Amino acid sequence: MGKLDESVLQEFLNIVGPNHALQEPDLTASYTTDWTGRFVGRSPMVLRPADTFQIAALVKVAAHAGISIVPQGGNTGLVGGSVPLNQEIVISTLRLDQCEPVDGLAQQVTAGAGTTLAKAQSHASEQGFDIGVDLAARGSCTIGGMIATNAGGINVVRYGAMRDQVLGLEAVLSDGSIISHLEGLEKDNTGYSFPGLLAGSEGTLGIITKARLRLHPQLSERCSAMIALNTVDDAVAATAQLRRTLPSLHAVEVIFGETMHLVSDHIKASIPVGPEARAWLLVEVAATNDPTDELANSIALLETLPIDVAVGIEPAARNNLWQYREKITEAIATRGTPHKLDVTLSASRLAEFVNGVPHLISRIDSRATALMFGHLGDGNVHVNILGEQGTEPSEEVDRAVLHYAAELGGSISAEHGIGSAKKEFLHLNRSESELAAFRAIKASLDPKGILNPNVLLPPKSS
Ligand code: FAD
Ligand code: MLT
Ligand code: ZN
Repeated sequence: MGKLDESVLQEFLNIVGPNHALQEPDLTASYTTDWTGRFVGRSPMVLRPADTFQIAALVKVAAHAGISIVPQGGNTGLVGGSVPLNQEIVISTLRLDQCEPVDGLAQQVTAGAGTTLAKAQSHASEQGFDIGVDLAARGSCTIGGMIATNAGGINVVRYGAMRDQVLGLEAVLSDGSIISHLEGLEKDNTGYSFPGLLAGSEGTLGIITKARLRLHPQLSERCSAMIALNTVDDAVAATAQLRRTLPSLHAVEVIFGETMHLVSDHIKASIPVGPEARAWLLVEVAATNDPTDELANSIALLETLPIDVAVGIEPAARNNLWQYREKITEAIATRGTPHKLDVTLSASRLAEFVNGVPHLISRIDSRATALMFGHLGDGNVHVNILGEQGTEPSEEVDRAVLHYAAELGGSISAEHGIGSAKKEFLHLNRSESELAAFRAIKASLDPKGILNPNVLLPPKSS
């Protein structure tokens, strides 16, 4: 990275003003350590620009000085992609948090990249709409970060991931130029798709400053069920059947054995059904008219698969069931610094993977524990690994699990992205020619390599 001399720091400070150019370690700490605590970086300066133009001016200065940048939203990313691991400058988008009025006719909204998901959700909800992606980090994660990581969450099974919600973007490119295409036309085949390109790019191709998002009419009639099952295979079979028989299906989450007992301890609430089960599905249906009967009939079609079922209709009863899923990440964080592996398996290989992981791990590190759960409706299993007494597990364990997922034809990253944590494993899912194409795209949009240089792309193999 280029030399960061005082004159450059002064130029940065002149653009954002002294209150938004942080240098003291106690002021920058929350920007330089990731959410899990596993990735700890340092930065000579954290910048908090007010708008797109200030970001453009900052990038121009950085590009000229050859200074690398980490774009940051809510810093809730889980793959070490949002913190400065080699003394990069951090550009925080949190002040770009304004939403334009909801366009009810088009069912769309334009949101600043630094808008938290929760703020965007309440803004849309006031006009009777939902954002298509929801996840437990909603209070902190930002629209820009969610696009940059192509976040998934609990409603992918109905609305798709974040990439599918983006109709247009405004962004600052690595030379400080601004691209803006926010009209939100549903059909607009006028060349390459910037939303398609920047979604999932993890801050390596441009800094997203605004997004035009599609909205979904709010579905006020909801019902949830927790279904206890004997085996992982049964959970997979039940999920496939629910997807076939439930037009109002809104979410299908799964909690496996140890994880359910851990979160039950954490929230000090007993497991609602089937404490002896191996897997619990959490299912939500949502519609404009009461979907309870539809859910009941669909569960009846599962015949002998369920050990037991608990249903929640009123919001309090639904929340009581969902807390077992929503509180998992928090519960695990109380036990130490997990290595978070987030993989996708095809329905036909998923049970084999989930059943195989504990044996695989114990052969490498007998004191490590795998806590598994996830978005079963999309084949997404979260494997959170804790070492002995909450210490970090060995990297060998990560390697073995990601290789195992890839051997079974799965993805080494379902929704969290690659970051710095997984770039050495990207070749397990991407061919040399794909990686060469990735590098060509990166080289053309960021020729000086100043945008988030530590993430996504592995060093060229010799
Ligand atoms: P950050 O962490 O700030 O950044 C993430 C990446 O995006 C970095 O590479 C960063 O450089 C880049 N970036 C950030 N903002 C911009 C921008 N404006 N332009 C360009 N690049 C940018 N993720 C899921 O997908 N599904 C889940 O269900 C889920 N659940 C979670 C639950 C908890 C409790 C936590 C802590 C995290 C969870 N996550 C989940 C992970 C995380 O919330 C998502 O990855 C989210 O999209 C990150 O958003 P952020 O604003 O915090 O981004
Ligand atoms: C979640 O779905 O809760 C997160 O994506 C997974 C995690 O925190 O590991
Ligand atoms: Zn998730």
